[in-house]
Amino acid sequence: MRSKRNGTQRQTALITGGSGGIGLEIAKVLARKGFDLAIVARNRDSLEAAAGQIEGKHDVKVHVFASDLRRREAPQDIFDFLRNENIPVEILVNNAGFGLGGEFADTDVTRELEMIQVNIAALTHLTKLFLPPMIKVKSGRILNLASTAAFQPGPLMAVYYATKAYVLSFSEALAEELRDSGVTVTALCPGATRTDFASTAHVTQSRLFTLFGIDDPASVAEYGVTAMLHGQRVAIPGFKNKLVAQAHRISPRVVTTKVARILQDSRT
Ligand SMILES: NC(=O)c1ccc[n+]([C@@H]2O[C@H](COP(=O)([O-])OP(=O)(O)OC[C@H]3O[C@@H](n4cnc5c(N)ncnc54)[C@H](OP(=O)(O)O)[C@@H]3O)[C@@H](O)[C@H]2O)c1
Repeated sequence: MRSKRNGTQRQTALITGGSGGIGLEIAKVLARKGFDLAIVARNRDSLEAAAGQIEGKHDVKVHVFASDLRRREAPQDIFDFLRNENIPVEILVNNAGFGLGGEFADTDVTRELEMIQVNIAALTHLTKLFLPPMIKVKSGRILNLASTAAFQPGPLMAVYYATKAYVLSFSEALAEELRDSGVTVTALCPGATRTDFASTAHVTQSRLFTLFGIDDPASVAEYGVTAMLHGQRVAIPGFKNKLVAQAHRISPRVVTTKVARILQDSRT
């Protein structure tokens, strides 16, 4: 799929969390391919800075919409904004998400319920809203940010790992429902990647982020967009991450769970 003019309308990709990290890199890749963008995040200044950066380099329009996906109404607000602006969405990238490290007995429940809202509920609601118009025109792409965390339980980050298992399961099921519809769903499963994610989740000292190389968000984005445009169902960038994703096939689940705990723990 390539961006094309449809009368005067260029195709648009909606990217949640498009102001930073992997989402911003996905936005840049799609802009390079000629898609107009709609980017969503909480901080309007960061959104406008990202839009300015992209529009300064590529001949595309970047719409910005400041919205907090922890709010239940946010997906409907985003949908209504784009409909009122008469901007059909050809590509939906459900990227916004965050984690939280620590033992479940001690972590902040408010933050965890917000995480479930952003990582699971908002992603599901946005897909519910934007999918029917895609089915109607028999064309569309959905890219959901899962993680290598989706493939096994994650002690010391239990809720986050579980949210990503949901994203992977939901995406694969939906992809199968939509076969032959013209709409594809891709779950992108990065490993540790150099963004603000680790500091937000308080896991910068975990072995996962200190022992092995950390991936570059631009490469992760390039890989994910290519997989999405090819309609690939699951996309795991890099050999190390592919290995992690296969670990459950060769070792009992209790073992992969213990290994995940060791990796989530800090080195000290
Ligand atoms: N980095 C990794 O190691 C890694 C690995 C695997 C998977 N992932 C997944 O990749 C996705 C992107 O993560 P990242 O590493 O790029 O994180 P990041 O650098 O922290 O960027 C997060 C983006 O989401 C936005 N965002 C955060 N909370 C939001 C909210 N409540 N409402 C709306 N927007 C919100 C942020 O902008 P504002 O703060 O302005 O809202 C920012 O644009 C996440 O789903 C994450 O789980 C990351």
